[in-house]
Amino acid sequence: MLAQPAGYIFAVATHGKGRMPPYSAQLNPDERWAVVAYVRALQKSPPVTAEERADSARAAEIQAIDSSSAAIRGLGGSATRAALGAKQP
Ligand code: HEM
Repeated sequence: MLAQPAGYIFAVATHGKGRMPPYSAQLNPDERWAVVAYVRALQKSPPVTAEERADSARAAEIQAIDSSSAAIRGLGGSATRAALGAKQP
């Protein structure tokens, strides 16, 4: 995808491709070119480093532990409690 010219991304946004629907009804041409510019800016952004990956994996684990302990204390939503097998109030 990095190798694709800007016009290709614009064409996919306009006409869709495969399972992706077209966006010409929701976005006018200027808006579609703005999306292309945004995608290009993202493509130029630096890749996630190994250190960042390890950090965010650790953060996700902490978040999961936090939300399950909140659920056990009865602070979670009913879906969380159900997923954890707790009795419904
Ligand atoms: C306007 C914003 C968007 C742009 C610029 C865009 C661009 C692209 C591009 C360039 C591809 C790769 C096409 C290829 O295989 O060569 C793609 C694939 C795909 N996109 Fe998007 N996309 C956008 C929004 C969306 C949205 C909102 C969805 C979901 C509702 C979506 C769903 C898909 C799917 C399912 C594919 C795979 C299509 C397939 O191979 O069957 N896209 N998109």
